[in-house]
Amino acid sequence: MRICKCREDKSLDAKLQFARIPQEYRQSRINNFEINLYRTDEGKERAAIAKRVAANFVANYPAMKEQGKGLYFYSYQKGSGKTRLSCSIANALVKKYKADVRFIRFVDLLNELKNSFSGNGDVNASELIEAVKNIEVLVIDDLGVEKVSEWVEEVVTSILDHRLNQNLVTIITSNSTIEELDKRYQQGRVRSRVEKMTFPVWMPEESIRSLIAQQENEEIQDILFR
Ligand SMILES: Nc1ncnc2c1ncn2[C@@H]1O[C@H](COP(=O)(O)OP(=O)(O)O)[C@@H](O)[C@H]1O
Ligand SMILES: [Mg+2]
Repeated sequence: MRICKCREDKSLDAKLQFARIPQEYRQSRINNFEINLYRTDEGKERAAIAKRVAANFVANYPAMKEQGKGLYFYSYQKGSGKTRLSCSIANALVKKYKADVRFIRFVDLLNELKNSFSGNGDVNASELIEAVKNIEVLVIDDLGVEKVSEWVEEVVTSILDHRLNQNLVTIITSNSTIEELDKRYQQGRVRSRVEKMTFPVWMPEESIRSLIAQQENEEIQDILFR
């Protein structure tokens, strides 16, 4: 039986909806991740490596899936392209492999946990937790941006632990190195899991977000100062 094109498109749309990739990054593609926007040679070089890693990750996804290997994009600088590149990978995995993907900001996950804790004291009741534990590809955006309490660390550990044991692919963005995760998660079990589950990719220490904002302002200044 052949599945008609429109039905296929619908199921792709549904998958993309389910992935909850933020509006800003829905159109992001690895191909249009620009290297020349970065100003320094080092920035351009790191961006080029990151882009290549992203493309090779997608091309070799079956092998990565087999090994349960994800990626860890990090830079101290905000706006360097970490979320964009992870979303580009997520978009590509949905399109190319019809993968089940879920994007979640780490702070949203924490808030959700807090709510379900204060609600009925049973975090397992949260569908979100089950979803993030078992989804084929999980993107955790901005892991460890805020200081977390012990119980949150426990839950994060249990999510990662489950995914590690099930060999599921997790893509993480963070503003710290994997080693530095120990400072935020002092029981030390987050870092060791992330280390096993991901391949680290150092992003440029340059903010493309500010650069784009400056360029936009330069363009409108001609109108506003007229
Ligand atoms: N290499 C790039 N090419 C094009 N746009 C980029 C690039 N890197 C970042 N951007 C844009 O800059 C903004 C900040 O990027 P983002 O990925 O959110 O940064 P981070 O997650 O590192 O804080 C976004 O609007 C993103 O689309
Ligand atoms: Mg980000």
